[in-house]
Amino acid sequence: MDHLQPYQGILPSVGKHCYLDPSAVLVGDIQIADEVSIWPLVAARGDVNTITIGARTNIQDGTVLHVTRKSQNNPQGNPLIIGEDVTVGHKCMLHGCTLGNRILVGMGAIIMDGAIIEDDVFIGAGSLVPPNKTFESGFLYVGNPAKKVRPLKEAEMAFLKQSAINYIDLKNDYLQE
Ligand SMILES: CC(C)(COP(=O)(O)OP(=O)(O)OC[C@H]1O[C@@H](n2cnc3c(N)ncnc32)[C@H](O)[C@@H]1OP(=O)(O)O)[C@@H](O)C(=O)NCCC(=O)NCCS
Repeated sequence: MDHLQPYQGILPSVGKHCYLDPSAVLVGDIQIADEVSIWPLVAARGDVNTITIGARTNIQDGTVLHVTRKSQNNPQGNPLIIGEDVTVGHKCMLHGCTLGNRILVGMGAIIMDGAIIEDDVFIGAGSLVPPNKTFESGFLYVGNPAKKVRPLKEAEMAFLKQSAINYIDLKNDYLQE
């Protein structure tokens, strides 16, 4: 698969039953767990640090994933860690941040270095999450800069998991093509 490219001899590693669109470009030290889907025109570069994508997560069209290198002031740099059952909407930018499980990142959102998004968080479309902020489990955040709006409703909490299931079903259809 030529959309998987090595950097310094390291190729992305891909789990079982994943769907990687042929137009996605994935470079270097990227660990992709089982049942993940990566949609058209995603660009992910695990070159100057690592990217980890947890099981059943979907990364939608046009999203960019990148990381920050290690330096004297920042000895670990900023890897990008994305948990399980996460939906990353169309055209997002996730840079050197850490996401827990069952998160929805709305379309066009930007999450910057060192930000931590706890489990079960909904981030509204077009939001900007500044560096090193922590977003608390169970809340909706919206805006630029993104602010806590309210606790998630029961239906929204359920949708976080359902969205991941929907994308597993969809990628299974694509795998049949
Ligand atoms: C934030 C969101 C969850 C709606 O939440 P809600 O509580 O139902 O909000 P409402 O639609 O009732 O709108 C409440 C206010 O927030 C505003 N608003 C809604 N979404 C917003 C957003 N993403 N950013 C900024 N403001 C937003 C509305 O304009 C409204 O403002 P007003 O009170 O001045 O009229 C939704 O708009 C959203 O962003 N969903 C993300 C969808 C997505 O990207 N999915 C991924 C695709 S796969």
